[in-house]
Amino acid sequence: MTQGLQSQYSGQRVNTQSRWYTLFQKGVELGTWNVEKLFDEIGFEQDRASWAALEPAERDQIRYLLSGFLDGEREVAGDAATNLQRIMQSPCLESNTEKEMYMTMLTLTEHKHTQFLDVYMEEVMNDADNYTDLDPRRGSRIPIVQATGLGEVFEHQGLLTAKAASTRDPIDIAKAATTYHMNVEGILARVGSSAISRFPPRADFPLLNYAFKFISTDEGRHITHGIELLKELLEHERAGEPQYQGVERAIVNTLYQDVPYMADFGYMFTDALDDPLELDFNEVLMRGGNLIDGMYNETLGLDVDYMEVISVVRDRYLEINEWDIKERLAEHEQQYQRKRGVAADGGN
Ligand SMILES: [Fe+2]
Ligand SMILES: [Fe+2]
Repeated sequence: MTQGLQSQYSGQRVNTQSRWYTLFQKGVELGTWNVEKLFDEIGFEQDRASWAALEPAERDQIRYLLSGFLDGEREVAGDAATNLQRIMQSPCLESNTEKEMYMTMLTLTEHKHTQFLDVYMEEVMNDADNYTDLDPRRGSRIPIVQATGLGEVFEHQGLLTAKAASTRDPIDIAKAATTYHMNVEGILARVGSSAISRFPPRADFPLLNYAFKFISTDEGRHITHGIELLKELLEHERAGEPQYQGVERAIVNTLYQDVPYMADFGYMFTDALDDPLELDFNEVLMRGGNLIDGMYNETLGLDVDYMEVISVVRDRYLEINEWDIKERLAEHEQQYQRKRGVAADGGN
C-alpha cells in the first residue's frame, strides 16, 4: 500500500476501502518505531547530562509534566485494550471489523508510549519515585497527577469508556470518544508535547524530543480516528435517525465538563511552580483554545463558544489559585504511603 492512498487490493470480510482500514495500514507502516532501538541509537547521555545540570525547580516542572504523560499513557493504553476495543464492536457503528483492526494498532502504540516514558524516567530522572507498585490501572496515580485536574480527566475517561463499552449506545460512545480522543489526546497530549518542544536550550533532551516526534505522529492518527468516529455519529444524527439524537449535545457537554480540569494541569506545571522553564500559562491556554476551536468547530462543524470556554477556565483559575500545591502533594504522598503499607502486607 502506498501511504495515504487507498488500497489497490480487495478482500471479502475486510473492507480495504474503509477509512479505518487505511488508518490501520498507516499504523502498521508508521506506528512500528522501536522504543529500544531509539534508546540504542540516540542514547541517554545528553539527556542525563542536561537533567543533572538543571535547577531543582526546573526538574520538578519537567517531572510533573512527564508524570502526567506516564500515567496518561498507561490509562489510555488500558482503556484502549478493554473498553475501546469493545466499543468498536457496537452495532450502531459502521466498519466494525476495520475499527477493531485499527484499535489493535492504537493499543500497541499507547503501550509503546508507556514503555518509553517509564524507562526514560527511570534511566534519566531516577532520583524520584513514580509509585509504580500502585499504578493507575489499580486505582492510584502519581501524586502530582492525583493532586491536579489531570486525575479527574482520566477518571472521567475511564468511567465514560466503561459505560459506552457496556451500553454500546451512540450517545455514550460520543461522550467516551470526546473525552478520550478530543480532550485527552487532542488537547492535553498535544498541549503537553508542544510544551516539551518549547523547553529552553539549557533543557536539551534529544532522546525525549525524538521520542515525542514519534509519539505525536502516533497521536495524530489516534485523533483522526476519534474525529472520524464522532463525524460518523453526527452524520447519523443529522440524517434524523432517532437512535442518534443527542450526539452533538453530548459532545459539547463532555467538553465543558473536562475543560476546568484540563486547565488545572496547565496551571500546575506553569504558574503554581513559578514556571522556571518559561512554558507560560497564557501560551498553554491559547494553544488549548486554538485546538478546541479547530477540532470542535472547524472539523466537526459544532458551535462551541470559545469565550465561554475561556471564562470557565478563568473561574477555575481563580479557584485553584488559592491552593497550596506543596500541601496537596504532601497529602497525596501520605495517602500513597498508607496504601503501600497495605499492599506490603499482601493486602489481606
Ligand atoms: Fe499515547
Ligand atoms: Fe493516543
